[in-house]
Amino acid sequence: MTDAIQVKGCQLIYPMKDGTIHALEDVTFSATEGEFLSIVGPSGCGKSTLIKLLAGLLPTTKGEARVEGELVRGPHKNVGIVFQNAVLLAWRTVLRNIMLQVEVRKGFDKQTYLGKAMELIKLAGLDGFQNRFPWELSGGMQQRVSFCRALIHDPPLLLMDEPFGALDAMTRDEMNVWLQRIWMEKTKTVLFVTHDISEAVFLSDRVMVLSARPGTVKEIIKVDLPRPRKLETTERIEFMQYITRIRKLMHEEGFY
Ligand SMILES: Nc1ncnc2c1ncn2[C@@H]1O[C@H](COP(=O)(O)OP(=O)(O)O)[C@@H](O)[C@H]1O
Ligand SMILES: [Mg+2]
Repeated sequence: MTDAIQVKGCQLIYPMKDGTIHALEDVTFSATEGEFLSIVGPSGCGKSTLIKLLAGLLPTTKGEARVEGELVRGPHKNVGIVFQNAVLLAWRTVLRNIMLQVEVRKGFDKQTYLGKAMELIKLAGLDGFQNRFPWELSGGMQQRVSFCRALIHDPPLLLMDEPFGALDAMTRDEMNVWLQRIWMEKTKTVLFVTHDISEAVFLSDRVMVLSARPGTVKEIIKVDLPRPRKLETTERIEFMQYITRIRKLMHEEGFY
């Protein structure tokens, strides 16, 4: 079986007017199909850069990145992306924001996808809100709409860059339980960036810790906690031990 993600010796240097910024150096890792892999690391270490690289939005300056065995050369149809802010179009309803994903791609039958969109809206707990506008929804609901939009074309790989970063702690906890359920039902490969260690441990099969810039893989920690994980899971000793271990690694990189 090919890995869902393969990154080998990736380097990324941003050219600047007065020099360069060395964002990533020799990043090597892979993710198996259906795996939930989180990325944590100090601010500015290159997490978003790594996501953009895998999304095909930025070329590497050295090394290679593959999605389902294929070299990443540009945006890939098998990838769904969720960013920190929901970036919904204010003048489109929930349903039409989700359908946008299908409308901008060629060869999708709109009628079929209308049905799929409604299924996702139900799954996201947004039933009855399909004809509302983004500004009529809470932050958590808006973020769930952007998840639906990322999922509508059923991509096997989801890239998420701090998708819950803008939400309050309680909404975030709820969203984590929700995301775990979606992931377990749909068996997607997820690459999830967060600066919240607890969130990373809660959701992940493995947590990858990046070093300070230029970001490189410092350590990958396997999280052996039974699923489905519940809010009570966060009170278990093993859970705390994972957090302590990852926090220590982050401290070594100067992150407090
Ligand atoms: N488009 C860009 N041009 C130049 N430098 C950038 C660009 N995007 C990010 N950087 C720099 O690259 C480094 C890594 O950024 P980023 O990937 O956003 O880090 P993180 O998501 O881990 O906080 C930072 O020093 C940032 O300032
Ligand atoms: Mg970032």
